[in-house]
Amino acid sequence: MKLLRLLILFIVFQVSAQQGGMWIPSMLEGKNEKEMQSLGMKMTASDIYNINNSSLKDAVVHFNGGCTSELISSRALLLTNHHCGYGAIQSHSSVAHDYLKDGFWAMTDAEELPNPGMVATLIVRIDDITNRAFEGTSDNMTEKQRLDKIAQNLDKAQKEVVKESWQEVFVKSIYHGNQYLLYVTEVFKDIRLVGAPPSSIGKFGSDTDNWMWPRHTGDFSLFRIYASKDNKPATYSKDNVPYIPKHFLPVSLDGVAENDFTLVFGFPGRTNEYLPSIAVDQLANKLNPARIEVRDVALKIVDSYMRKDQQIKIQYASKYASIANYWKKWIGESQGINKSDAVKIKKKLETDFDKLVAAKGLQNKYGTLLSDFDSMYKEIEAVSLANDYWSEVVNRNVELLSATVMMYQLEQVYEKKGTQAFEEAREKLNKRLEGFYKNYNATVDKAVFEKLIEIYANNIPRTYLSKSLSNVDFKKLTDEIYKKSKLTSYEGVSELLSGSPSDFVKKINKDKGYQLGKELTADFYNNINPKFVKMSEEIATVQKVYMKALLELFPEERIFPDANSTLRVTYGKVSGYQPKDAVYYKPVSYLDGIIEKYVPNDYEFDVPLKLRELYETKDFGQYAENGKIPVAFIGTNHTTGGNSGSPAIDAHGNLIGLNFDRVWEGTMSDLYYDPAISRNIMVDIRYVLFIVDKYAGATRLIDEMKLVHPKKK
Ligand code: ARG
Ligand code: ASP
Repeated sequence: MKLLRLLILFIVFQVSAQQGGMWIPSMLEGKNEKEMQSLGMKMTASDIYNINNSSLKDAVVHFNGGCTSELISSRALLLTNHHCGYGAIQSHSSVAHDYLKDGFWAMTDAEELPNPGMVATLIVRIDDITNRAFEGTSDNMTEKQRLDKIAQNLDKAQKEVVKESWQEVFVKSIYHGNQYLLYVTEVFKDIRLVGAPPSSIGKFGSDTDNWMWPRHTGDFSLFRIYASKDNKPATYSKDNVPYIPKHFLPVSLDGVAENDFTLVFGFPGRTNEYLPSIAVDQLANKLNPARIEVRDVALKIVDSYMRKDQQIKIQYASKYASIANYWKKWIGESQGINKSDAVKIKKKLETDFDKLVAAKGLQNKYGTLLSDFDSMYKEIEAVSLANDYWSEVVNRNVELLSATVMMYQLEQVYEKKGTQAFEEAREKLNKRLEGFYKNYNATVDKAVFEKLIEIYANNIPRTYLSKSLSNVDFKKLTDEIYKKSKLTSYEGVSELLSGSPSDFVKKINKDKGYQLGKELTADFYNNINPKFVKMSEEIATVQKVYMKALLELFPEERIFPDANSTLRVTYGKVSGYQPKDAVYYKPVSYLDGIIEKYVPNDYEFDVPLKLRELYETKDFGQYAENGKIPVAFIGTNHTTGGNSGSPAIDAHGNLIGLNFDRVWEGTMSDLYYDPAISRNIMVDIRYVLFIVDKYAGATRLIDEMKLVHPKKK
């Protein structure tokens, strides 16, 4: 008994040294509320989430599925990151009107630009439907029977949910299938671009500074939600009017100081905090390095063309940014895992876990979990690698090959589902390819192909190597494909796609590029993917039980559910950090730092003349603090991809910043949050206001906000 208590004490200590966590907004009462208040929050849990009255959650908007945004005026002015609005800004840009380069500001409502297909989602309500989900399931069922039963229950719950006709509903599991939540939402479909700074502000520092502190990026853009005249979601119409939100965030002019409470409210995408040590090791030391190598090579090639040609720069800007983004993240993540000894620390926890299971006599239930993980992760390694190589090379970085994947899928539709399904799929694909080729350059792609196909052939585990790639002359193969394939232009593809379905099949199968792509893709779908999916499902089943065991064995712990693209609250303090011996990073950066980094006409560090003038003349308006313009700050909020654009909120519920990144040393926080070095990066809201007002002169936007002084009461 004494041993048991000691063990529990020890493990509890280990786990709670991990702060951080991303919490469900409807479940903050109790532990989280107390913790937030002890950190300085002056609100209650129901100020954050409330279904009877308006609350903070009514101002937090899922932005087009991947980012977060917030409402900052009674006319639904919507603030998000520049990198979240990037695709939209790019789509309105051409060499003649380059809004990426020069920025864009709508000086009237009428100038705001619609973005067909873009959505903005508000959360109306979150219901815990765990009991309903598990109704009629039992321990004697097989996993398949249990999952089928749960699926039926969830289906029923969604059909029977009480909601308004224009609202939507979905269900997500948390804690790896141990709990189920139902979300009622409103999905707005008329979202217009209102403003964006030039990239030399919104993307200042670009990839060199990405994932880094100190940072000086004005990473913001502005949109507006439009609704029908009765304030409901509606697709674009010129008669739509600005949406009237239930709540919008007042904007604080008082700024932040070290140790101030902060809350970040948004839609984090995915974390894996409860992976076993073997999985973390595999990811950091096998899978990440493979993906990094592929992207490393692709990026260098694309970059060399973008720097030479403005047209190519616009075409590849968005693709390049997203490929570079995770390339750099994975590098930081792997370094962070190794530097923080995460694998060793997790191993120790696992030893303790097994001891506790034994001490409590739970071996039958939980005794083999960790050894199961061990053998399963060993078994999945080769196929995971193959999966990554295919995804990175064929499906992503070589664009011609990614076009063959789409063609392959179309051919499959015809073979498996017949003519009518084919016609529908062809029409869709045609549209998609039009956009795809608008941003395609065959010279760039050829150069990428030549290098990546060699990496693919040399590195994919031997059992998964496609026949045509053993013993080939890569240069010859490349020249042949890019000379003969019709997949190098939209005209060529259109021709392949035309005619009867059987014409299409005949023509496409004669295409040199398609022949190779088809072989690689068929090998993927026949050999790699089925094994990968099967093993992943088996692992997920063990992970679900492991998660259940953790919750059961440590009921007093702060065990937060992994991110899953649903609305979460994370909180902490404004705080600097020590990245290495004898170096301390302060938590706030200033406009002075932009001028320090300024390199005239540089690709990444140019500064617009107007901004330099404002700096010289100290024309800072009401936005300065002790004569300086703050630009960004960092804090201990536990965020991840998807949190970009999330509001940083002060102790009283006012907007103080805009989340957009994390620091390099702490990017392993998706797998292992280390409170000593994991920091999120936010734009100081006063920098946003300063740019909108003084740089862009878009004062009509400042006028519609509610500016407050919470510290000067
Ligand atoms: N690292 C940030 C996030 O993961 C910002 C990325 C955008 N910037 C870029 N250079 N790609 O999204
Ligand atoms: N930059 C990320 C995003 O776009 C945020 C992060 O990963 O910290 O969501």
